[in-house]
Amino acid sequence: MAYPFAHPREVRIVSKHFGDAGARPVDGWVERGGYRAARKALPEMTRDQVIATVEASGLRGRGGAGFPTGLKWKFMPKDDGKPHYLVVNADESEPGTFKDREILRWTPHQLLEGAIIGAYAIRAEHIYIYIRGEFVDVIPVLRRAVVEAYERGFLGEDVLGTGLRIECTIHVGAGAYIAGEETGMLSSLEGRRAEPRMKPPFPAQAGLFGMPTTVNNVESLAAVPHILVNGADWYRQWGTEQSPGTKLFSCCGHLRRPGNYEVAMDFNLKDLVFDLCGGPRPGRRLRAVIPGGSSVPVLTADEIDCPVSYEGLVQAGSMVGSGGLIAMDDSACLVRAVRRMVEFYAHESCGQCTQCREGTAWAARILRRIEEGEGRDSDIPLLLDISENMAGKTICVLSDSAAAPIVSSIQKFEDEYWAHIRRRSCTAVS
Ligand SMILES: Cc1cc2nc3c(=O)[nH]c(=O)nc-3n(C[C@H](O)[C@H](O)[C@H](O)COP(=O)(O)O)c2cc1C
Ligand code: SF4
Repeated sequence: MAYPFAHPREVRIVSKHFGDAGARPVDGWVERGGYRAARKALPEMTRDQVIATVEASGLRGRGGAGFPTGLKWKFMPKDDGKPHYLVVNADESEPGTFKDREILRWTPHQLLEGAIIGAYAIRAEHIYIYIRGEFVDVIPVLRRAVVEAYERGFLGEDVLGTGLRIECTIHVGAGAYIAGEETGMLSSLEGRRAEPRMKPPFPAQAGLFGMPTTVNNVESLAAVPHILVNGADWYRQWGTEQSPGTKLFSCCGHLRRPGNYEVAMDFNLKDLVFDLCGGPRPGRRLRAVIPGGSSVPVLTADEIDCPVSYEGLVQAGSMVGSGGLIAMDDSACLVRAVRRMVEFYAHESCGQCTQCREGTAWAARILRRIEEGEGRDSDIPLLLDISENMAGKTICVLSDSAAAPIVSSIQKFEDEYWAHIRRRSCTAVS
């Protein structure tokens, strides 16, 4: 059954069964080839072989940072005698991003299978799935899938008859964006405030409860079974040398066909916006695109003729981030859009770092006065100065994330700021 927004130019691997309710229960998943990878990995492959295959595939973390998944698994210690943990990051709170929710909604066993393989690879006896609390309709789906996986012996004391023990606990978040940051997530799982921690030590050295831990995003883990069944070269047939495979982009904003689209990682961003998503609404002109969630720099409509690969988007001046594509047409006020984003970051800052706590709050205040026609000539340099002090100086990158839309929007849409400050007007077309 086709997902409402399926497009022939997509390469549907992780999203192949979106819209197919039959893939949700364990029987349906097994009928569709599910758990073949787990059966192959656990009895047939050593842990090192699993890691080597994932490393050879070039899969990079889909949660935002793009760190190679196989390498991350390799960092986990061997024979240290300590409990190891795999933490699945299903917090998905980045504005503009809604792909992990759909993976969990349609194919919860796809995630569980990837997590079981990941847990095996890193010697973890316990998987924690930290799921966003607002996913009220998806949480029961995931709970049901975990019960089924226990019943079928994919989880529990004797996984697939191998004598290995892998337990799984679902932890429901309480609404803080910062709990999505991996060390904030570990703090939250330990029952404390979701405050990020200084690194080093990295989670692989001292993570959950002080033990070696790997944190992986839902989409990253969902890709793993396909790589194990089909091989690293198969995965590398898509994308580029540095960005192999496919990526889900959650496309929203001023688009005719918003939705999740899975494309090869060398797919053209302009084609994604205009061909797959149908471009802006009739009579409207595209103004700006944020390709990777609100934490990455904004691109102008003229800058989107580039591949969606990690290196392609960096070259264009932005980042893949979480793949939350936000399109804005000529009715959008960039000052207003950035003010709303920065207010979000100000609200979500955990407050540990002065640059972030004060910077986000002051930047939001200044942006609001500019938007309301009360801006001063000194506000643009002031915003840039605050942003510079917010980037690269804090415990986690939430602060950098707040600075990115401020700086990029001033660089690219400065006329909009001056229209608000000098003429008390806006360049957006109503
Ligand atoms: C403020 C902040 C919020 C984040 N939110 C998420 C999130 O909701 N989901 C996610 O997978 N990663 C999120 N991340 C990235 C995680 O810290 C981490 O890099 C990721 O879960 C690692 O998984 P991956 O290697 O599979 O991408 C966030 C990072 C920051 C700084
Ligand atoms: S940068 Fe912001 S959110 Fe991150 S630890 Fe510091 S205060 Fe908290």
